Amino acid sequence: MQCCAATGRQSRRSAGVPSLLAIKKPLRFLDDVVMTPRQRRLVDRIILEFREWEVLEANGLTPVRRILFCGPSGCGKSATAEAIATEMSLPLLYVRFDAVISSLLGETAANLRKVFDYARRGQWVILFDEFDAIGRSRDDPTEHGEIKRVVSSFLQIMDNFDGRSLIIAATNFEQSLDPAIWRRFDDVVRFDLPTPVQLRTFIRKQLNTVAVQSVRRFSTSISLLASILRRFSQALSLALSIRSARRKSLLQMNARP
Ligand SMILES: Nc1ncnc2c1ncn2[C@@H]1O[C@H](COP(=O)(O)OP(=O)(O)O)[C@@H](O)[C@H]1O
Ligand SMILES: [Mg+2]
Repeated sequence: MQCCAATGRQSRRSAGVPSLLAIKKPLRFLDDVVMTPRQRRLVDRIILEFREWEVLEANGLTPVRRILFCGPSGCGKSATAEAIATEMSLPLLYVRFDAVISSLLGETAANLRKVFDYARRGQWVILFDEFDAIGRSRDDPTEHGEIKRVVSSFLQIMDNFDGRSLIIAATNFEQSLDPAIWRRFDDVVRFDLPTPVQLRTFIRKQLNTVAVQSVRRFSTSISLLASILRRFSQALSLALSIRSARRKSLLQMNARP
């Protein structure tokens, strides 16, 4: 994913905001992401509703605008948000939760307001990543008053947000989310640990530049690898090592006399 802090024209328009946000040019497509048929149907519907915004609005309906992605780490939440942005031909506005959650009393709500003010100026897929940091339960006795204020501000600001953007909030800890936050989302997409079939599909996709014959020869190993990886929640991060191996072997082949 290409990433740039808001630069040039955008940074001049938004003094103070760039450190809270990253504007990413999405490069991943939906077909690059391995999904269950149910996830794919949901995501396709979200994209369709967004494309047909005017038609829905003309008939008194509002398209899905706020989606919650839940599930363990490394199962494709960020990857899917990026792919949705690609399919919608929109930039991805990535909200850095660690920058928004300020240790200075009162500043977090102000930061959230800055984020939404900036988002109002354009059309984006806005990803609030690690969202549980913002939406931690208001009933949790371990949280001090500041978090309660942050949650109330977030809900209020999101309710008043009239920008033509798709808001996606992603969390690894759905059980820690405030019940009031759940109600504010139009749809929830769940990401689970990959099934063996999904893993096999994923590994094949990653190996797609290898000659078909070699893939056939290795198909037993792919199944075995997939069954071993099933035990690890970060299994799909395997992509990184496979990609790195592909780059290495390609460069080695090119270097051969
Ligand atoms: N379902 C998936 N399909 C394709 N690649 C995936 C999938 N899940 C994870 N990956 C790979 O693993 C990496 C980490 O996944 P990510 O989307 O950041 O997980 P999450 O946001 O759920 O923690 C991605 O960059 C991608 O390369
Ligand atoms: Mg993520």
